[in-house]
Amino acid sequence: MPKVTIDGVMIEVPEGTTILQAARMIGERNKADRHVVPPAMCYYTNLKTSGGYCRSCLVKVSKGSDRDPRPMPKPVASCRTNVMDGMEVQNTTSPELLDARKGVVEFLLINHPLDCPICDQAGECHLQDLSYENGTEASRYEFERRTFVPIDIGDTIKLHMTRCILCYRCVKVADQITDGRVHGVINRGDVSEISTYIQNAVDNDFSGNMIDVCPVGALTDRTFRFASRVWFTKPEDAHRSCERCSGRVVLWLKGNEVLRVTGRKDQWGEVKEFICNTCRFEKKDLADWKVEGPRHIDRHSVIGQGHYELETKQQLLKAPAPNVPELVRNKELKER
Ligand code: SF4
Ligand code: FES
Repeated sequence: MPKVTIDGVMIEVPEGTTILQAARMIGERNKADRHVVPPAMCYYTNLKTSGGYCRSCLVKVSKGSDRDPRPMPKPVASCRTNVMDGMEVQNTTSPELLDARKGVVEFLLINHPLDCPICDQAGECHLQDLSYENGTEASRYEFERRTFVPIDIGDTIKLHMTRCILCYRCVKVADQITDGRVHGVINRGDVSEISTYIQNAVDNDFSGNMIDVCPVGALTDRTFRFASRVWFTKPEDAHRSCERCSGRVVLWLKGNEVLRVTGRKDQWGEVKEFICNTCRFEKKDLADWKVEGPRHIDRHSVIGQGHYELETKQQLLKAPAPNVPELVRNKELKER
């Protein structure tokens, strides 16, 4: 099995593993080593042929392999480059690489509006995290940015093309998860856009997964739009018996109100089990679900900073405990 070293951390991985996957294996093995994991805006483990579009996962290969130790002449997309035995990779330890990644972020933000204060994706947006961690303070772009009028693609999904970074993830979902390919990216270069044929996909039982895979706020859930900032909601794992999907979801609650239902995302922000539209859009009553407990959001974004898990623990601890001031008052009343 080939051995690869990323930012000085070594791992042995199965043949055919990409640098990004190897880095994630290191991050899963030891949380303290997560800095070796490059950001990824278009790669998605459960979507075949994803990756290779956004370039945010660039890394520097400072040693090709034991057999051919020459460095690779330019940064490579880690989601599309397989590891070789003895390979050495730099993710955060190369200043040129960090500079190249800044350039990628600048490109991704050329047309993307800075409307985070009114965007439903704020707080769980991968582009927000990427630009915060890897971007520059200002853009050098002086030309007119392209804009689109947001459109409703069916009853439940809003397409805000201005925010799209053309990662192709939603196209892969439509292609691989829904029945029949009905949309894609039309045109090329700076006039590329997600085709409005996407409207035909919304009848499909699994089309809502396009919302979950979209790394930015280009595809949003119309049943949740503007209902609440996501950090004011409480994510709870829940399940129901469903004949179309696993029925294992995350409920985003405000009090006992179910504001939104999504798939469960892992530490890399990817859904492992895609859910059907019935679970996502039609089961908004808490009684429809068996709640398992607070969802741990294993990301560094603002939701991960919420205290909902602690609050739930405190509630559980408090619930059976006697209310001391009340006991004292009762005792006083009895004594009177
Ligand atoms: S709409 Fe979202 S998921 Fe689809 S290509 Fe654009 S950014 Fe990617
Ligand atoms: S994640 Fe590798 S190119 Fe987009």
